[in-house]
Amino acid sequence: MRIDGRDYRTIWLDPDGRRVHVIDQTRLPHRFETLALDSLDDAARAIRNMVVRGAPLIGVTGAYGLALAVARDASDAAIEAAYARLLATRPTAVNLRWALDRVKALLLAAPAETRAARAYAEAGRIAEEDVACCESIGDHGATLIRAAAEKNPGRPLNILTHCNAGWLATVDWGTALAPIYKAARAGVPLHVWVDETRPRNQGASLTAFELFSEGVPHTVIADNAGGHLMQHGRVDLIVVGTDRTTRAGDVCNKIGTYLKALAAHDNGVPFYVALPSSTIDWRIADGVADIPIEERDAREVTHIAGLGSDGVVSEVRLTPAGSPARNWAFDVTPARYVTGLITERGVCAASKEGLARLFPELAA
Ligand code: MRU
Repeated sequence: MRIDGRDYRTIWLDPDGRRVHVIDQTRLPHRFETLALDSLDDAARAIRNMVVRGAPLIGVTGAYGLALAVARDASDAAIEAAYARLLATRPTAVNLRWALDRVKALLLAAPAETRAARAYAEAGRIAEEDVACCESIGDHGATLIRAAAEKNPGRPLNILTHCNAGWLATVDWGTALAPIYKAARAGVPLHVWVDETRPRNQGASLTAFELFSEGVPHTVIADNAGGHLMQHGRVDLIVVGTDRTTRAGDVCNKIGTYLKALAAHDNGVPFYVALPSSTIDWRIADGVADIPIEERDAREVTHIAGLGSDGVVSEVRLTPAGSPARNWAFDVTPARYVTGLITERGVCAASKEGLARLFPELAA
């Protein structure tokens, strides 16, 4: 993506191929700053503190975190410890486990002196594959958006999205936003309703930043506005991302997604989920029972940060100091409320059969 006349991905290496750089997403949309990750500690902290976030990007950062660890100590014990450390940073997005498993298996099978180079190479491959998957999701989803727009000629298609599933959540392109970028670039008239996505405001801060930078018409709305807009025919399509999708098509995504799916179902609005296959957890079928839901610091609920008229970003308290708060970060939308899954191999039903048709070798 292009920011201030420069092309960026969300994660990249120094020219010497060792140090890892990321965009500090906690500073957006007010400041565009990058951060260097030099060690396992840096990578683990970046994931846990949401300097990087979004399921695919968390996975790639985890892979580079293992590479940073192995560059210092290539022993089996160090690899196992780094793996455990990174896996514990965020529990819900399955891409983290997927990427760590992939790099760890390769490293443990390799001679110690080759491990650092192999780890960087594998992390780089995972990053490149993510870009290719997201671009392909963009192509399949754009076809769907174009078809929906053709059914509603003479006005922009209204698409609602929740959280941020754009290029900032992946290495490039994004999942839910990739089809929107592709369709908008192809001249399909569209407008995006952006859920602010409390408490971390990924919609208001990141999705709005992305769409604004790309020149895509959009409007930020309060999280609770979607149902009202759907009742009044002002949402044609919903596209969201996911942090973990079960083999039966249950979809875990940012807290509040489920309520949007229920409102979409009640109002006959198609509800699509865009995902690379690295987000499918083939081990589980029942998302509500089996997906671990991250609970984050209640301070994310009780406080909010913003840019003051003095140009300073600061945090203010929203709640009475004595009121307890809880902060579940994700929820699960059962497959029955999902119209379709947009993957790198095409669009399928949110079901065991739909996923197995597209990914027979993984479903087996
Ligand atoms: O807590 P976050 O910001 O990591 O959550 C991100 C989301 O929920 C995204 O919608 C999801 O990862 C899909 S991203 C391509």
